[in-house]
Amino acid sequence: MSEGSKKQLIEEINILRQQKNAIILAHYYQPDEIQDIADFVGDSLQLAQKAAGTKADVIVFCGVHFMAESAAILSPEKIVLLPEPEAGCPLADMINVEELREEKRKYPGAKVVCYVNSSAAVKAESDICCTSSNAERVVTSLGDQDIIFVPDGNLGKYVAAKTNKKIICWQGFCPTHHRISKEDVLQSKKLHPEAKILVHPECREEVWREADYVGSTSGIIKYAENSPAKQFIIGTECGILHELKKRCPDKEFFFITDHMLCPNMKKNSLEKVKACLLTLSPRITVPEDIRKKAIAALEKMLTV
Ligand code: 13P
Repeated sequence: MSEGSKKQLIEEINILRQQKNAIILAHYYQPDEIQDIADFVGDSLQLAQKAAGTKADVIVFCGVHFMAESAAILSPEKIVLLPEPEAGCPLADMINVEELREEKRKYPGAKVVCYVNSSAAVKAESDICCTSSNAERVVTSLGDQDIIFVPDGNLGKYVAAKTNKKIICWQGFCPTHHRISKEDVLQSKKLHPEAKILVHPECREEVWREADYVGSTSGIIKYAENSPAKQFIIGTECGILHELKKRCPDKEFFFITDHMLCPNMKKNSLEKVKACLLTLSPRITVPEDIRKKAIAALEKMLTV
């Protein structure tokens, strides 16, 4: 797209955003041009908080399906739009409600902590949700109770190690993060020996054990911003580079591998944002019986 047409498209989006009293929320993994037009860019927790608190009538959720669904659970009176309806999350699809019910039957009495990367139906069957930035706090808040953690096994293991708790982990994973191996990290460290290694807890244990810092996307950004180090090896999706470069223009960032791209996060475009504002579709809604149960798990998380 030429610079002229892009400028025009952004102007049209801005007019529509005003006319419809809409807010555009974007995750750090979104394409750069989407992050640039968003009213707010953040990690999963920050986006859920923003969606819960906004006065806008329309929320354009530039992320993947479970994120927009969480916004629809928290703000049922608002119109929640996902510009690209096919933007799913393979990790969220790795457990369904029947499988979770079966797991609960196997471990009666255990509390279910469900990572926000999950369907509304799975949230509805859970006691409390968490994101990567509050998972430790959420698990700690449950005291001595046994915990079933779904669907991300890597994050579950990480939280178990941090909290010293016995956690029954579902073996789901994010294909983008799970693909990185310890050898990739060591190779990258050889190339950039001075760099600090910052990874997302969706990475495998053998990877996060090698890291200087493990945290959510916003945690990684904060760490890079506040660290005296000048070089960083990053173990999360490549979209984060946009914010890292903005906040730390004098620092250097290298990704552990060249394949750190989530194809679903990249399905969105400026054209799709404009189209969804124009037509107020595709709209994400959640059946009221599921929503009522799912909101309890999400609100519990927001109070923790
Ligand atoms: P954050 O909560 O760290 O933004 O992570 C979201 C996510 O889906 C990671 O794959």
